[in-house]
Amino acid sequence: MKYSDSRDKLDTPKKILKVNHAGEFGAINIYRSQIFFSKYFIKDMVPLLESFLVDEKRHLDIFWAEIQARKGVKCKSYWLCGVGGYVMGFISSILGRKGIEACTWAVESVVIEHLENQLIYLKEKGDDSAYEAVNSILDDEKNHRDVGAGNGATNIWYKPLRFCISLFTETTIRFGMR
Ligand SMILES: [Fe+2]
Ligand SMILES: [Fe+2]
Repeated sequence: MKYSDSRDKLDTPKKILKVNHAGEFGAINIYRSQIFFSKYFIKDMVPLLESFLVDEKRHLDIFWAEIQARKGVKCKSYWLCGVGGYVMGFISSILGRKGIEACTWAVESVVIEHLENQLIYLKEKGDDSAYEAVNSILDDEKNHRDVGAGNGATNIWYKPLRFCISLFTETTIRFGMR
């Protein structure tokens, strides 16, 4: 999705920060629910998922600080992201290790594409602090995608899951940007 100036009263950089903040809340809930189930069934995945959770919490704080500096409030998609994240974490966990890997790959791939387009927009716009906030999380998200994805990213049987998760993530981001 290409980012451009918005025509309503909320400017695009502010929207980007809010959508990303909500997205981080969604990511936190994905990893929280995956950790909850992995503790019983896929114990060796727990340390990795916990390290991702630490990253997502830090990302949440980065965006929230930037939103508050602009006297903003939470995104309208905040709770949708939260519930959606938990549900995606739950469904992927039921499907086991590859389900979790497929979920990570699908979510992070969509997120990274958005972050890269946001950076192009924010650079053009000259909004340095928003640019910095977005740029500061990009490498972490790439790391989540590349380290967390495993075979679930390519396994044919998990394609429908990846498709549904990508679609939900994309739709939620677009809803938040409206
Ligand atoms: Fe994140
Ligand atoms: Fe992430």
